[in-house]
Amino acid sequence: MSNKDRLVTLDEFIIEQQNKIEDATGELSGLLRDIGLAAKIVNRDLRKAGLVDNILGDAEKTNIQGEEVKKLDEFANTILTKTLQNSGECAGIASEEEDEIVVFENRKRAKYVVLFDPLDGSSNIDVNATVGTIFSVFKRVTKLGENCTLEDFLQAGEKQAAAGYVIYGSSTMLVYTTGDGVNGFTLEPSIGEFCLSHPNIKTKKHALTYSVNQANYHSFSENIRKYIDYCMSSDGNKKLYSLRYIGSMVADFHRNLIKGGIYMYPATHKDKNGKLRLMYECNPLSFVQEQAGGKGTDGVRRILEIIPTELHQRTPVFVGSKEMVEHILENQ
Ligand code: AHG
Ligand code: MN
Ligand code: MN
Repeated sequence: MSNKDRLVTLDEFIIEQQNKIEDATGELSGLLRDIGLAAKIVNRDLRKAGLVDNILGDAEKTNIQGEEVKKLDEFANTILTKTLQNSGECAGIASEEEDEIVVFENRKRAKYVVLFDPLDGSSNIDVNATVGTIFSVFKRVTKLGENCTLEDFLQAGEKQAAAGYVIYGSSTMLVYTTGDGVNGFTLEPSIGEFCLSHPNIKTKKHALTYSVNQANYHSFSENIRKYIDYCMSSDGNKKLYSLRYIGSMVADFHRNLIKGGIYMYPATHKDKNGKLRLMYECNPLSFVQEQAGGKGTDGVRRILEIIPTELHQRTPVFVGSKEMVEHILENQ
């Protein structure tokens, strides 16, 4: 039976990729499989939201970034943390929902650290709109056999060994890259496996969709306002562009990855560094976008070249189709 006769599962695909690399040890493959497992557990419980307690609603506290924490933020954070600790391939994690890094003292020999946004778009949970999980993997730089440290996490995005996201949409998909293109897997609920559905994803160079919280228009710089004016301009009575904005970065990003478009969260008068987090959101999604042929910038620098100084640091971000991001860069 050839692979054409049946679906290729995420685990099979990962092993196939690993076999192409001569000195691969299987550790990164194991880690990716465990992220897939955590995603399936989050997905299972997310799909019951509204029917069982402890899924919808606020956890009645704020995180280190002063944002309201939802019950599902906490739940997804715990599932990812525990699954990665059990994995054996992960020396520690950093999460949008944790103040500091979490060191797995029983995993001193593990080569990788993982950073994640356990639940992206949490304001959308209670209204049954699309949410996601975003992850970023680095090979540690400190000595194996010792506890991992903050140094292992504060690496530039271009050093990511892997990155991706899970989108809990009308179907659940896992999309990831290890620096050799981008592949997407759709969860087949009847067998409980992610199966290859979107091989070698490439983004259009240019498209007619932009995604931004346009209510911040008056708080953007003049150049960004001009770009938005340009997107809103018309050819006679006919509009040129469409605005699509859900308020879940994963959902807006995924649509633009598949159909072409640009996602932006620029600096505002109030938030000089924008709102989104470099390590949990902008780095992993820029890595995916670059691997699909697109670009990610903070308006000046390539996102992946930013040397982080703080775990929870924020950055303005423009990520999407190559020519659309270049248009922003040329007009800064
Ligand atoms: P999170 O739910 O992880 O805190 O992320 C929310 C982010 C991002 O997903 C989304 O695009 C953006 O915040 C929306 O912000 P605005 O409501 O300011 O547009
Ligand atoms: Mn987020
Ligand atoms: Mn989040």
